[in-house]
Amino acid sequence: MNGKQAAALKAVEYIQDGMIVGLGTGSTAYWAIEYTAQRIARGLHITAVATSEATAAIAAEKGIVISGIEEVDHIDIDIDGADEADSSLNLIKGGGGALLREKIVAKASRRFIVIADESKLVATLGKFPLPVEVIPFGWQHTARHITALGCSNALRYKDGKLFVTDNGNYILDCSFNQITNAPLLNAQLNGIAGVVDNGLFINMAERVIIGSADGSVKEYTR
Ligand code: 5RP
Repeated sequence: MNGKQAAALKAVEYIQDGMIVGLGTGSTAYWAIEYTAQRIARGLHITAVATSEATAAIAAEKGIVISGIEEVDHIDIDIDGADEADSSLNLIKGGGGALLREKIVAKASRRFIVIADESKLVATLGKFPLPVEVIPFGWQHTARHITALGCSNALRYKDGKLFVTDNGNYILDCSFNQITNAPLLNAQLNGIAGVVDNGLFINMAERVIIGSADGSVKEYTR
């Protein structure tokens, strides 16, 4: 068991029978999907909502029926990964490009539980380039406004191809290096025309579960 698996295994314990569950995206969330599928095979009943098309496909492969977010009026618990987490449980997410759906699902959730290995804990957010989802129309102009906030940024490519999100948008990966005022930056970014949302998740996580390679976990709450 590695740290990602240990964190995921612990998080899945918080799922109770009958709950509406948000399934996250990425290599850590993958394990939460796997362990949830194992609990379903042992008799757990849940309604599941996916944070990306990729997660919906993985869940379906494992026999988890996915409901559309429009079919539920709330989500009880959302379990998702992060690219960085600080001591206030503020996060950078979107390394996998699913930040918008991840944020919509997390905001609809009564409990948002973040899972990660120790490499994701940071003193200050920003070393990981902040993903910003932008509308394709005029993205070059949007990028210039973002640059004026004090970062360099690059349009995301994956496997040599322009990366397009599940929502048909682009991602600009923005290197701020150190984000000293995350709430301010979040507001500034989301105030720029063309920005759909960004990967700062502020005051959203109820709990961050950090798993270690020896299988132990530490839980941080606000
Ligand atoms: C996807 C995400 C992921 O949760 C984040 O990138 C962490 O991924 P991983 O668990 O693979 O390190 O935000 O958009």
